[in-house]
Amino acid sequence: MNTQLHTEGASGRAAETLSFIQLRSPAKINVFLEVHEKRDDGFHELETVMLRTSLHDVLRFEATTSEELTIQLADHSESAAAATFPLDDSNLILKAAYALRDHAHTRQGAAITVNKRIPAEAGLAGGSSNAATTLIGLNSLWGLNLPGQTLHDIAATLGSDINFFVEDCPAAVCTGRGERVVPIQSTGSFHFVAVQPACGNSTPEVFRRLSLPGVDERSNVCDTATALQSGSTDQLQNVSFNRLTQAARDLNPEMSKLMRAMNQTTNRTVFMSGSGSTCFVIARNHREAGRLKARLQHLDCRWLAAFKVE
Ligand code: C5P
Repeated sequence: MNTQLHTEGASGRAAETLSFIQLRSPAKINVFLEVHEKRDDGFHELETVMLRTSLHDVLRFEATTSEELTIQLADHSESAAAATFPLDDSNLILKAAYALRDHAHTRQGAAITVNKRIPAEAGLAGGSSNAATTLIGLNSLWGLNLPGQTLHDIAATLGSDINFFVEDCPAAVCTGRGERVVPIQSTGSFHFVAVQPACGNSTPEVFRRLSLPGVDERSNVCDTATALQSGSTDQLQNVSFNRLTQAARDLNPEMSKLMRAMNQTTNRTVFMSGSGSTCFVIARNHREAGRLKARLQHLDCRWLAAFKVE
């Protein structure tokens, strides 16, 4: 995680208190997602491979003298991403901050500024990433020194994808609701070009439309993990899979149309991240990602970006 720390000490002596900390909050992309049975709590058991990407928001946590926790958008946030960003208590950043504070029995405050670049309802887990970055950032800013496992325990109470970002690894197989994270050693440099249609997807709606596969029909995560370990883009392209794709295409015909157009333009298999609506193709290297992005520029979409695993 890209970190900037600033300390302030009394009368020019060695620094004593952290005045602010600035951290990258990365997006994830799913290159494998299989859905298993529905649990009693209404969630489905998942088996998914998440990759941490170079696409990121930046969160700045500033120490304050009051108990208040405030959140604001940086002026230079990406306008479409910022438009749907909640600034009230429904924001996962504030939920994470309050949960951490309750756990640590502290009343310290913070002013949090978000430079938002990751689009919402995109299947890129921007909100979950922000929550994980908040746990990590405030743990440092407030000098709590809680161990990683405690941050994981808090993360699991807040949402599905947060633990992957608390783990802070480039690639992992995630199971349960996504909260059980096993890092994968990935040797390759994997590049993606992603497009989001005008309309996002509602995760509960996508799950509602899903036809669950039988036990024998489930896809196997091992091939994707092997492709990442071998560093082969072609292999990854052949084995990537997302069980939610058909349900999401049924829900969002515009996304479905965009996937067809992406396939015709690039002659590549088009994948969807999470429950969508971001769709992506896999590129062999940085230059090819640039070429594919240029070719996709004409598409009618909300957002287009090239990024890599980082
Ligand atoms: O994880 P998130 O809060 O975005 O999930 C929203 C909804 O999507 C859940 O309430 C549930 O209906 C569905 N879901 C699911 N199984 C998962 C994740 C989400 O059924 N593993």
